[in-house]
Amino acid sequence: MSLANNKDTSPLKSKDFGENFVWGVSTAAYQIEGSHNKNGKSASIWDIFSSKKGNIYQDQNGTIACDFYKKYKEDILLMKSMNITNFRFSISWTRVLPNGVGEVNKEGIAFYNNVIDFCLECNITPWVTIYHWDLPQILEDKGGWANREILEWFSEFATVCATNFGDRVKNWMVLNEPMVFTGAGYFLGVHAPGKKGLKHFLPAVHHAVLCQAKGGRILRKLVPNANIGTTFSCSQITPRSSKKKDIIAAKKADAMLNRLFLEPSLGMGYPTEDVSVLEKIEKYFKPEDKEDSVFEFDFIGVQNYTREIVKHSHFVPYLKAKIVKATKRKVKITQMDWEVYPPSISKMLTKFDAYSGVKNIIVTENGAAFNDVMVNGEINDEDRTAYLHDYIKEVKKAKEQGVNVNGYFVWTFTDNFEWAEGYFPRFGLVHVDFSTQKRTMKKSGHWYAKLIEL
Ligand code: GAL
Repeated sequence: MSLANNKDTSPLKSKDFGENFVWGVSTAAYQIEGSHNKNGKSASIWDIFSSKKGNIYQDQNGTIACDFYKKYKEDILLMKSMNITNFRFSISWTRVLPNGVGEVNKEGIAFYNNVIDFCLECNITPWVTIYHWDLPQILEDKGGWANREILEWFSEFATVCATNFGDRVKNWMVLNEPMVFTGAGYFLGVHAPGKKGLKHFLPAVHHAVLCQAKGGRILRKLVPNANIGTTFSCSQITPRSSKKKDIIAAKKADAMLNRLFLEPSLGMGYPTEDVSVLEKIEKYFKPEDKEDSVFEFDFIGVQNYTREIVKHSHFVPYLKAKIVKATKRKVKITQMDWEVYPPSISKMLTKFDAYSGVKNIIVTENGAAFNDVMVNGEINDEDRTAYLHDYIKEVKKAKEQGVNVNGYFVWTFTDNFEWAEGYFPRFGLVHVDFSTQKRTMKKSGHWYAKLIEL
């Protein structure tokens, strides 16, 4: 295992993080469940987007995925055998509300009740994300996140989740990475629903900001003793050079990638001084919106994988900033072509912790995809083990420096459906043979189990 980047060579021990630090694994409904049309479930934007040619690597989809819908007991038992005591998963909107709103699907509720109850039986604490990107297609047909009615639709969904599961689920995350689902889904068109341009993106951003806070308020009202968070993707941003143009470009990228959704929730509004195009959000703004964007989250979920090097580019509209691809920088990369750069996570933790309104931080995702090779039934994934080791060590460093970080979840438990990249990138601690659904714990899984053993 390479420790080259780490000055602290002492062995990594979970007890050094303190007794109250939570260790877990993270997943998302569409990426694992499969059974896309079973027992009353209707189509989500990901079912539709992945059914169209050319959208996903090799035209794959999440129709079966890891078959978690049927294998949840086996998977939760496997978690238990790995000493995992916290499991983050999301609720599929179309499983519980097939029409998006209105009639609740009892079978959908029963499925999540079974998952939650079985977790509790196994002494695993459920951490539930309300929205991890799988909007009902029926609502997308009405404009989805770009339609202000999403405030009502989402409130109904959040209420259904809180009232049905809130008696047993105390740890909640309202949204997963709003920057990714609005940016990739409503600006670049590379994720579902495949919409492009500012006219979709800006209202989607604003409505996601409002739903983020609204969801928080709904949970606060309906779930006694709830620990309420929401999650943000983030990457350390470094200018390519010390030229003023590159520094400005990096500042803009940082505002978009790291600040856009957090700051309005803290009452700071949108970072328009760095990204002037965000002023156009005003068009979608009602007088009460600034106040309604604010919610005092109990924790912020930080999701970090890499860093980005940013340079000025005249050709990129609005931002005038461009990411210098890791593949062009002769650095160690993962299967996602993301740079392996452990200090990024401590930088981001420090950055988020510096906001006075951020009370507590949990790393709700971190992990890596590598080309795992099975030899004699075993997967000796040293790259992933080293990645996790080195990133967790950076979390420890941040904690020792006073950052209020109190949890870490690996992305992800089993190999799964990785959105536009399909099944190609393998992020799991557990290997899945997608032709047989056989699970095989990787070396990194054994390593993580040992790390978090009590
Ligand atoms: C995050 C996302 C996860 C997972 C992960 C790895 O952006 O929340 O669903 O796909 O990245 O790419």
